[in-house]
Amino acid sequence: MTDLPHQNAPQRPYTTAPARTEENAALIARTPRFTLEQDVILSDVTRTALNECLARLRFHHTIYQQWDFARVDPMGMTAILNFYGAPGTGKTLCAEALAGQLGMPFLSLGIAELESKFMGETAKNIQAAFAQAKQSGALLFFDEADTLLGKRLSSVTQGVDNEVNAMRSTLLIELERYEGIVVFATNFARNYDEAFRSRIGYHVEFTLPDSAARRQLWEKFLVEKIPLADARDVLLDGASELSEGLAGREIRTCMRLALPKALLAAGYPAGEPALSLDHLRQAIAQVQATHHTIASRPDFPTAEAHTAKKLLGIQ
Ligand SMILES: Nc1ncnc2c1ncn2[C@@H]1O[C@H](COP(=O)(O)OP(=O)(O)O)[C@@H](O)[C@H]1O
Ligand SMILES: [Mg+2]
Repeated sequence: MTDLPHQNAPQRPYTTAPARTEENAALIARTPRFTLEQDVILSDVTRTALNECLARLRFHHTIYQQWDFARVDPMGMTAILNFYGAPGTGKTLCAEALAGQLGMPFLSLGIAELESKFMGETAKNIQAAFAQAKQSGALLFFDEADTLLGKRLSSVTQGVDNEVNAMRSTLLIELERYEGIVVFATNFARNYDEAFRSRIGYHVEFTLPDSAARRQLWEKFLVEKIPLADARDVLLDGASELSEGLAGREIRTCMRLALPKALLAAGYPAGEPALSLDHLRQAIAQVQATHHTIASRPDFPTAEAHTAKKLLGIQ
């Protein structure tokens, strides 16, 4: 226990390599697999907000890195973004695609990678993440960061509250001195600590897909080799109309549910399977039904609803 700093210990720069290998594994920046143009489908309002932010980041990259202006203006390369909005609307996907678009490695951390059962370790993990991102020139992404950005607790009674406060204070300090791009993804825009809110330069809202975006999403998931029983346009028009209110991830869930239906209906492998609008309609109804069941049960505990949705792949 000797090398575990107390949560009130003064902040020290992270100079030694983390000892535990599973933590190291989480801290590896990778080459982004997506780009904004090819992989992300957004409604106009989100796309516009993102483009505005991207224009500035691109501009920054040229000026500060290619032209080396960072040498005389070291803090100029910093941009802190928050992607917020309903689950399954593409925030995680978009963060990686943004790194892809900017030609930067992608360093992604969830709360699971940061959290530690050891006192003071969480704050240390945050410091390590910033150090690693700086070293590799990566876009640093904090996924599901609601807990991270929340208000610091004023009446600290338990160790866990202390830990949360230590983590948030460390994050503020690191953000203050970091030179680079940091993206947070959160499901709720409210209840942030004001200190975080004011440091975040861009708040980009991820809305549910509008009808044009839903059609593109269906198009993305209705990959070419799937045999179709109806004309492709009929499927796309029908499905995008029927799926109002569903997020991108839920559209993917619909496809996951619909494809086995096509196989079963044909008695595959004896018969030839073909996906019909009817299969899609049934799948959409199933996903909408889980929406409805969960939403209409006021006594349904939030955590349970969260778990249920996650298990169903609609969260
Ligand atoms: N806007 C979108 N464009 C393209 N695919 C999307 C979009 N939103 C969701 N998806 C699909 O759903 C999956 C999960 O989305 P994700 O980015 O994890 O959502 P969030 O982080 O907002 O909860 C993505 O990997 C992608 O396959
Ligand atoms: Mg996500």
